[in-house]
Amino acid sequence: LFAGQSEFVKGVVAMSGLPPADRIEVCFAGRSNVGKSSLINALTGTKGLARASNTPGRTQEINYFTQGPELYLVDLPGYGYANAPLPVVEKWQRLLKQYLSGRQTLRRAFVLIDARHGVKPVDDEIMKLLDTSAVTFQCVLTKTDKVKAKDRERILAQVRGALSKHPAAFPEIILTSSEKGDGISTLRSVIATLE
Ligand code: GTP
Ligand code: MG
Repeated sequence: LFAGQSEFVKGVVAMSGLPPADRIEVCFAGRSNVGKSSLINALTGTKGLARASNTPGRTQEINYFTQGPELYLVDLPGYGYANAPLPVVEKWQRLLKQYLSGRQTLRRAFVLIDARHGVKPVDDEIMKLLDTSAVTFQCVLTKTDKVKAKDRERILAQVRGALSKHPAAFPEIILTSSEKGDGISTLRSVIATLE
């Protein structure tokens, strides 16, 4: 699945703009700056495919990427960005709800959690939305290179506790570092099992 090339397809701002549902897809959700775009770059092995930046909230559209002929990788706009104007937030929440409940080919959502911070209230809100949309989701810890081994278990326990309240949560947590490449092949294998 990950042998093929990756290409940017389009940025989507409304349901009517979604590309044809001609293949399965997985999406990446998470707070602004958690590392969604970096993870997509690492997964596809294509630097600069998804724009990664230090400016939170930069990715405002639902960005579609192909991975070979059979899969879309979908980069969702980051949430929890304090400076975003309310109308923008509301428009985004509407689109996200429509997308999660209306996209037949969506096989799994990956909810990215910063390994230094654990699950925050905004993450919990997205997980609730995934529960009600009946979209199975799986947690991916990001930036594990920034966490000392002794802090890892504490964060993992916090994340496990948060997941236990969500019926749509898949129990296995994937630890990744886009910077070091840790966990990337594991995540590829998980995606490859979806059909
Ligand atoms: P938005 O599009 O704004 O929602 O952000 P995003 O979730 O796409 O985050 P992005 O991939 O742009 O990464 C944000 C910052 O974190 C960038 O400066 C990245 O270089 C950095 N970053 C991402 N992944 C890692 C990682 O695994 N390790 C380290 N150390 N830094 C990372
Ligand atoms: Mg991004």
